[in-house]
Amino acid sequence: MSKTNAAILGTGRSYPEGILTNAELERMVETSDDWIMSRTGIKQRHKAADGEYTSQFAVAASRQAIERARIDPADIDLLICATVTPDQILPSTGCLIQAELGAHRAAAFDIAAACSGFLYGLTLANQMIRSGQTRHALVVGAEILTRYVDYNDRSTCVIFGDGAGAAVLGASEDERGILSTRIYSDGRYAEQLFSPGGGTRIQPTAETLAQGLHFYKMRGNELFKVAVRSMADVSREVLEDAGYKADDVRLFIPHQANQRITDAVANNLKVESERVYSNIEMHGNTSSASIPIALDECIEMGKVNEGDLVLLASFGGGVTWGAVLMRW
Ligand code: UT7
Repeated sequence: MSKTNAAILGTGRSYPEGILTNAELERMVETSDDWIMSRTGIKQRHKAADGEYTSQFAVAASRQAIERARIDPADIDLLICATVTPDQILPSTGCLIQAELGAHRAAAFDIAAACSGFLYGLTLANQMIRSGQTRHALVVGAEILTRYVDYNDRSTCVIFGDGAGAAVLGASEDERGILSTRIYSDGRYAEQLFSPGGGTRIQPTAETLAQGLHFYKMRGNELFKVAVRSMADVSREVLEDAGYKADDVRLFIPHQANQRITDAVANNLKVESERVYSNIEMHGNTSSASIPIALDECIEMGKVNEGDLVLLASFGGGVTWGAVLMRW
């Protein structure tokens, strides 16, 4: 009996036209282009204009992915939107994307796993396709993080940016596709990166808004160390699960959190920099959108070819982390 893998059939990306440069941030908080570049590797990030919202970019990225996968939106039976910056609380952004795309046969919902959301989505889509329940899945990571950034807090406002990336997955009967996945979380570290207000615990009021309780608070330094260790460990796990070593990886796409995190993880895994993709300079950290945007760029640049072993790894608020290994 042939084994069914879930393979990526098409990808897409989209982001706001607006750009926020380090030079502009220098005028907003006490920081410098030098500090931001040397401590994070970020030069600019995309920033949505007033009136723009998450699903707009998710829909644009998804349309591209669907077109490249050469399927019809009605062929999608599972639609997963990974986001921590939904259009609204109810309904899910997934349902709003579904309606815009005309993916009327899909079960659509959101995953809130922060920067690991896209890999959580790939993991679920993979299992649904393997089980035969789903023929085509759309996984989209989309964020407008800049809405939750406090532009008085220099430790967070220099990092985050906006965007969306999408992938369509379908069944593959050959070697192509997802080989192994692992996802984890540890809620004991919830307060390392969180938005305290705006939900049912601290309801949004004029006062909580004035106090900035809806903004992201981050203990960046503590997260940094856990991020490096978790991404390296989970990458080793998916490699071992599939019977490979880091040496076999042709392309490594880590979540774009900070260039120093990327370098430390690659160094820990002993994957030399030529095989590691980074676009953080141009996008900053776009949370769940970072890996699918990077993957789409790699495909466009011809950095990934048939037969290549591709490793994706992420870490984010929750805390959450995960990795996906696939044969392209
Ligand atoms: O997306 C996944 C989840 N997020 C992450 O994984 C983020 C991980 N963390 C990071 O990327 C880094 O920790 C940051 C970029 C957030 C901060 O870099 P750092 O090298 O860890 O800096 P730090 O927090 O240890 O702060 C060092 C110094 C402090 O000054 P003092 O106390 O030494 O005088 C900060 O106040 O740098 C200062 N600082 C800044 N200085 C200029 C913090 N932010 C800035 C800034 N400009 N933007």
